[in-house]
Formats: sequence, structure tokens, C-alpha cells
Amino acid sequence: MRSRINSDTVSSVANSLASVDAGDPDSGKLHVAIIMDGNGRWATSRGRPRTSGHVVGARVVRTIVENAEDAGIGTLTLYAFSADNWKRPTREVSMLMRLFRRYLLSEMDRCVQNGVRMRIVGRRDRIPAELRRTAETAEATTREGKRLDLRIALDYSARDSMVLAAEKCAGRPVTRESFVRVMNEVTHSGPVRDVDLLIRTGGEQRLSDFLLWECAYAELYFTDLMWPEFTPADMLAAVREYHARDRRFGGVQATVAAAG
Ligand code: FPP
Repeated sequence: MRSRINSDTVSSVANSLASVDAGDPDSGKLHVAIIMDGNGRWATSRGRPRTSGHVVGARVVRTIVENAEDAGIGTLTLYAFSADNWKRPTREVSMLMRLFRRYLLSEMDRCVQNGVRMRIVGRRDRIPAELRRTAETAEATTREGKRLDLRIALDYSARDSMVLAAEKCAGRPVTRESFVRVMNEVTHSGPVRDVDLLIRTGGEQRLSDFLLWECAYAELYFTDLMWPEFTPADMLAAVREYHARDRRFGGVQATVAAAG
């Protein structure tokens, strides 16, 4: 079915739905997931340390979150740190953990004011205790937010969450629905929700173990822009392209079906 929504109607739909919980799949709002790639390359191409790219990347996260609702987004899942990112130099990992904590601390109040609910997706037993406690505080403080469900994937692996769910299901009959219920329990991810649009910056075209179950029918959008260069206008361009795509979910176009 081809959507005829343009950016103006996107924001008017978003406004009229402001009282509905944006994270609800029936809210009519999109679930957009972003792989924020390219911080390191952006920094080194300017003769700066990789970590400075992450600092600028965190500022970009703030502007993207501020503009998400206007783009018709109800759930925004950001890939901040994968389970494989522990392989990076210790200095970079420690800097990232401090940056995530600083981001949560500095954004918590703003999120409450703007109706943004924050959740952390992923394992919690390997991240520093201070970050874990701050994440719990951010989740508790922002839990009433209904305008945007902001999910930050930290120490996340889609394969690990599916393996854990499969272990829990062992010996029981499993359906898609029951498997999703179990995944909700094991991934600390809040409701598992299908991704509508997956954006990856940084020029690479792969999923890197991100939301593999949820992306089964996601539209994929790749851009050569590095994450520190990505703007709200770029996000809107991706959402516009999403609405111009023909999503058939394995079926045929409505007009083709009508013609027999
Ligand atoms: C991948 O790019 C990026 C990361 C592993 C870190 C993502 C972190 C941020 C965007 C900053 C802060 C985020 C939050 C949620 C506050 P890379 O640096 O590996 O890029 P490269 O491929 O150019 O090396």
C-alpha cells in the first residue's frame, strides 16, 4: 500500500495524536531505528581524536530527538553501543560510558517537559554501575512520557536476546506471539515493536546485529552522511522516502489485487 502522506500531514497527524501513547503500535506513529555510524571517521578526517566525534554525535542525538515527534515518529530506537563494541580500545569504551551517563543526566528533565519516555534496551549487567543506576533513574523519571518513546540500545545484541528467549521457551510449543512475549521479558526492552524504518548513517549497508526480529519488514534507508553531519532535515527526507515506498508485506499492491 503506497502512503500519500507528506511532511505537513505527518506533523498534523502527530499533533492530533498527541494524547495517545506514542509508543503504542496502534498510535499511527512510526517506529524509526537508527544506526548512528561514522563518528570516528568524521573526527579523524578532521584530524581530531575519534572520541570528539562521539561528543558531537551526542549533540546530534539531542536535535534528532527534539525533532522526532514532528516527523511523525512515536518510537525512536538508537543504537548507541553494541555487545561487540566492547572490543574497542578501553579508553574509547570508558569515554562512551561516561558520555551516555552525561547525556541521560542532562536530558532527563527536558524529556519530562517534552513528554519523552526514555528506556534502555540491552544487557545491564556489564555496563558501569553508575550508568546503570542513572539509566534506572532516567527510566523512572520519564515513565509518564507519551509523546515519544525514546529507546537507547546499550550493550545490545539482537542475536543474544533471541537466544535467551529461545532458551526460556525450550520444551514448550512456541508461536510468534508467545516468543515476542518472552523476548519482552529477557531483553529489558519494554514492548518489542516492529520497526517501520531503519536508518543507517556512515555509508555502510548492514544491520550489525540490531533489532533483527523487529526489522523483519522494516524499510531500510542508508546514507553516506556521517552521524555528526546528520540533521533533522535529513531525518525528514528519510521519513518522506519511507512514505513513498510501496509496503506490501509479502502481498501485492491494492490496485493489482483489485484487477485480479
Ligand atoms: C559508531 O560509529 C558509533 C558508536 C559506537 C557510538 C554511538 C554514540 C553516539 C552517537 C554518541 C552518543 C549517543 C548517545 C545516545 C548519547 P563509529 O565511531 O564506530 O564510526 P566509525 O565507523 O567512523 O569508526
